Amino acid sequence: MKIAILPGDGIGPEIMAEALKVLDALRRDGLKIEMESALVGGAAYDAYGHPLPAATLKLAEQADAVLFGSVGSPRHDALPREHRPEKAILGLRKECDFFANLRPATVFPELADASTLRAEVVAGLDLMIIRELTGDIYFGEPRGVSGEKGARIGVNTMHYTEAQIRRIMHVGFRTARQRNKRLCSIDKMNVLEAMQLWRDIAIEVAPEYPDVELSHMLVDNAAMQLIRNPKQFDVMVAGNMFGDILSDEASMLTGSIGMLPSASLDTNGKGLYEPIHGSAPDIAGRGIANPLAQILSLGMMLRYTFNLVEWADRVDGAVKKTLAQGLRTADIAKAGESVCSTSAMGAAVLKNL
Ligand code: IPM
Ligand code: MG
Repeated sequence: MKIAILPGDGIGPEIMAEALKVLDALRRDGLKIEMESALVGGAAYDAYGHPLPAATLKLAEQADAVLFGSVGSPRHDALPREHRPEKAILGLRKECDFFANLRPATVFPELADASTLRAEVVAGLDLMIIRELTGDIYFGEPRGVSGEKGARIGVNTMHYTEAQIRRIMHVGFRTARQRNKRLCSIDKMNVLEAMQLWRDIAIEVAPEYPDVELSHMLVDNAAMQLIRNPKQFDVMVAGNMFGDILSDEASMLTGSIGMLPSASLDTNGKGLYEPIHGSAPDIAGRGIANPLAQILSLGMMLRYTFNLVEWADRVDGAVKKTLAQGLRTADIAKAGESVCSTSAMGAAVLKNL
């Protein structure tokens, strides 16, 4: 098993360092995984003039899985769009066809009161958001800004093929089948033709999964329902942009966006694993970022790509135990609670492993 390590920018390298300590410990215990690192995002742009250098892409393509940190930095925001750090993650998703993004939002019992919502609304929440990653307004053509200053026109295009919708629906139904057998498909069919197609395909695929109950919800209502009563959902399936937005929203139900890992899978189960939070430039370099989403992303990799369920359970269990012991980085600490550093959190997880 070979994995590519792409720490990226901002807090990416800091939290990746903690995940790699966990991985090293597992390797000492006999886990057979080889790894190789490469630069990506702003860090790669600074070194090679491109956020996704050919060598980095090749490493990702040849690996069995990719462990990704985060990309993006204000310093690179003024670059032409094709050179911005975000282009790296979008390019990896597209080039490697990592179309199925699994974003679980689970509330650890220890953190039920870390959410801004009342504990009884979120306690016990176990939600899976499945986000399509290779289509939609992220990649649709035409796109761009044209015209003379004062009369410019900005265009992006919501674009989905039947095949793209169908394959993500299958992931949605299969995932629901392994859980509580309820799938809620998110769209905006009341306004958008592309989203009518989304709903039509969902309905078309449903008979293949008679044991799964399919429902539909407009995205604006879904955004509201997530806050009102998030436990009504089991699995949600959404397009690229709606899934992006709803998954950030869902992260806050869990207390902190610093807690949520994700998997982005291709049709063969190869995957890219990353925290759903970004590079957090405002706290980068200060040693205070929460490394748990990165460590849990490693756990997801062991579970989903390598089918190493026991090893994955060990990682998840060590995180749980660390939270139970009361360790809190700033993002998950309550007022007055003492706060630990990135490396102290990593060290505690390692000890509990
Ligand atoms: C995410 C991020 C990315 C996205 C950005 C960094 C391009 O917000 O993974 O959710 O929009 O997909
Ligand atoms: Mg996002």
